[in-house]
Amino acid sequence: MNDFTFCSPTKFVFGRGVTDRVGPELASAGYAHAFVIYGQGSVVRTGTLGRVLASLDEAGIAHTELGGIRPNPEVGPVRDGIRTAREIGCDLVLAVGGGSVIDTAKSIAVGVPYAGDVWDLFTGAPKPAGELPVASVLTIPAAGSEASAGCVITNDELSLKRGIPFDLRRPVLAFMDPELTFTLPPYQTAAGVSDMIAHVMERYFSAAGPVPITDNVATGIIRCLIKETPRALADPTDYDARANIMWAGMLAHNGLAGLGRGTEPGGSSAGGWESHGLEHELSAHDARVTHGAGLAVIFPAWMRYVWRTCPERFCSFGRDVFGIEPVDPAADGVDVEPEEAVTDAVTATIDELQSFFVSIGMPRTLGELGVTKEQIPALLETLEQNKGPEFGEFKLLTMADARAIYESAL
Ligand code: NZQ
Ligand code: ZN
Repeated sequence: MNDFTFCSPTKFVFGRGVTDRVGPELASAGYAHAFVIYGQGSVVRTGTLGRVLASLDEAGIAHTELGGIRPNPEVGPVRDGIRTAREIGCDLVLAVGGGSVIDTAKSIAVGVPYAGDVWDLFTGAPKPAGELPVASVLTIPAAGSEASAGCVITNDELSLKRGIPFDLRRPVLAFMDPELTFTLPPYQTAAGVSDMIAHVMERYFSAAGPVPITDNVATGIIRCLIKETPRALADPTDYDARANIMWAGMLAHNGLAGLGRGTEPGGSSAGGWESHGLEHELSAHDARVTHGAGLAVIFPAWMRYVWRTCPERFCSFGRDVFGIEPVDPAADGVDVEPEEAVTDAVTATIDELQSFFVSIGMPRTLGELGVTKEQIPALLETLEQNKGPEFGEFKLLTMADARAIYESAL
């Protein structure tokens, strides 16, 4: 187990009706003016925004709103938000929505004290001191941004989608009311779950050796999601299924599922995030691509390409998630070479994972996401801008490898 430093200071308020406790909780934490960020209308239609604002009013907290944030959020509204936040002098940015809204809130929070253009911060400018606190009312479990130190923003002009390259202050409060997720369309539910599974797997397939405690947390989260997701899809108002999925999304990405698997001394992050790197190009070039749906295609393609680097790791994954073991070549009546037994087990594992994604409504191919072979050079160009000529940890990938993975997923 490698050394790590881990701090997850977010306060979680979880359960039925916690949406109505936003005002009192913020007031007792001493906040006076919330800058409320939301998306393209779901929280208006479902009444969630109204409940949050009423709760702020009751608690005597002033508020200003900025809506219209799209999925795969763009830097333009972040710039608008920074201007507004400075004008109103808010002391908290409150996201009401999913990863796109929370990441916009985080970018505003870190951009307020920065004198230059906020996009600089995504391209290497140092983190400014004194970023504003962020809280969220989560409406879609997926990105895990409610407790993560990261945020991801797209710059349409440059066709670049980037994570911020330093740890942000994590959100101070996360309100997690599973009933808010009853209204999610099945596709968004499934894409969210695919993203969570990907967050766990990026860490599981780091370059570190086995870390039994963390590996058990990781595979336990995935097994739970495989069980609960069909229940939530069959009955969108199944509270327990929704609640388990919501909490799994947080556990998948706050860092717990990778502790001890990091390869940077004392760091808390683990893994090379290869599939996320490959996917971010898809949603950067076409904002209609849902992040989790892109991952459901890319991750199995990456696995098929790299597994020979460490077959043992893939065998552990297959055994602990799906109960798949290589057949014993020495057993009576078995006529198979040891290498073939491993190949069969790993192939069955990846097939099983991909079948799960497809069974919950996710695409199998890039074609289903509207990506064509002709677009691959453009994806590789921005991938190289973001990652350099080689990237990854489990297996170092060149741009030729990235091309092969994209092509294998067409
Ligand atoms: O915009 P509205 O109308 O609110 O609709 C949203 C949006 O269309 C809808 N939705 C959300 N809650 C709903 C609902 N519809 C009905 N009922 C509800 N309760 O769902 C759609 C997707 O929302 P979005 O916020 O985009 O989803 P998600 O949470 O998956 O966030 C995706 C973004 O997060 C980034 C992704 O790259 C992408 O940009 N990520 C952020 C990370 C982080 N900050 O740590 C890590 C992730 O790996 C990821 O990259
Ligand atoms: Zn993700």
